Amino acid sequence: STYDLVIKNGKIVTSGDSYVADIGVKDGKVIEIATCIDGENVYDAKGKYLIPGGIDVHTHLDMPFCGTFSSDDFLTGTKAAAIGGTTTVVDYAIQPGGKTLKDAIDIWKEKAEGKAVIDYGFHLAVTNLDDQARKDLPELLKNGFSSFKVFMVYDGMRLSDKELLEILQIAKDNDGLVCVHAENYDSINYNIAKLLADGKTDPVYHAISRPQKCEAEATNRAVKLAEMVDAPIYIVHVSNREAADVIARSRQEGFKTMGETCTQYLLLSIDNYLEPDFAGSKYVMSPPLREGFNNELLWDSLKFSKLQTIATDHCPFFMEQKKMGLNDFTKIPNGAPGIEARLALIYHNGVNEGRLPIEKFVELTSTNPAKIFGMYPKKGTIAVGSDADIVVFDPEKEVTLSVDNLHENVDYTPFEGFSVKGYPVATFSRGDLVAENGEYVGSEARGQLIKRGKPQLV
Ligand code: URP
Ligand code: ZN
Ligand code: ZN
Ligand code: ZN
Repeated sequence: STYDLVIKNGKIVTSGDSYVADIGVKDGKVIEIATCIDGENVYDAKGKYLIPGGIDVHTHLDMPFCGTFSSDDFLTGTKAAAIGGTTTVVDYAIQPGGKTLKDAIDIWKEKAEGKAVIDYGFHLAVTNLDDQARKDLPELLKNGFSSFKVFMVYDGMRLSDKELLEILQIAKDNDGLVCVHAENYDSINYNIAKLLADGKTDPVYHAISRPQKCEAEATNRAVKLAEMVDAPIYIVHVSNREAADVIARSRQEGFKTMGETCTQYLLLSIDNYLEPDFAGSKYVMSPPLREGFNNELLWDSLKFSKLQTIATDHCPFFMEQKKMGLNDFTKIPNGAPGIEARLALIYHNGVNEGRLPIEKFVELTSTNPAKIFGMYPKKGTIAVGSDADIVVFDPEKEVTLSVDNLHENVDYTPFEGFSVKGYPVATFSRGDLVAENGEYVGSEARGQLIKRGKPQLV
């Protein structure tokens, strides 16, 4: 038949507009959008939105950290993502000590192949800029791995300012994009030593050791280095107003600067660290949660296109793993879950609460991530020729989030008890129905590594 699948009567929402139409799908791609399409395999989406599958460009699946691993691997993590309406993840392939960037790709391919159920890409986290890396980088940038990450913190992973400048130049010369984790390393070490010497070991001191200025300073430094060589730069997990303003200012001056925030920085705050009985460890991540007034200012930054994407930095650890830091906050594995509920949380708190138009919600969670990371228009929109990565989103469905109704492989959610109206009820990945009403229903190991192209500035 002409179509493998017809999705009828839904309201298609892209970053540009919203309209009711039918979608004809063949061989995993959208081949027609029209007012009336008929076929044999029909999904009726009357009363629902049809949005491009979510793209989460900041995840850490099966990531080694502090002698343990994040608890979602590419199997459990991508299933949870699919149920929550995300059809593409871009994970960080971190160069292990003593290994090359190509080794890192092989290691992460092995983690993902035979496990991932949705499509995926890898940013390469460069932890050692040696001659081999200098040789490999241009080739990798041109061969599907068009973005890199640089850490300004974490022993054994961080690069110096000199190396950051060099890598910005390499990326610029080879149509690549550098993503930066921006925090001031020395100030954190100074603060940690003082706090521990005073016996201050509770989770809240994680946040106090890495104050807003620590992130703002490093963000400014990274952005100025990028401006120096006029290279594009993307600051990951922007947590506060001050860092967001650095990015906004640079953009205003015409530089190729972009920024990402994450769900948790929009909805949670430093007060969460004060939950009793070590529960504050649930929120130990870097950068840490901030004073509550930042939430609204970050929403504003998104609304006015001062920040370009919303990701999750999904990096879950069981409470048992968090307990490694029971007597010393510096030993608590950094990271929290969030891959599954991103779309519902951003839709509810963004669109329902009047902070974002629905098209902007799609832009921030799918279209911009696809453009910035070289996947557009294959991903990030609903258009003829695009992959049929389509989420049926029911604006009337009410859910109270709980660890009991999420599918992430971890024993808590930072969003426990959060109520949302609007939830994904079906997810298509390349035309296959992979999730429906909170369950994974697709085949196993169907995810494909995406060869990403040149990053676009947005
Ligand atoms: O705390 C975090 N964010 N853990 C994951 C690693 C990183 O820095 O992104
Ligand atoms: Zn980071
Ligand atoms: Zn991260
Ligand atoms: Zn379920």
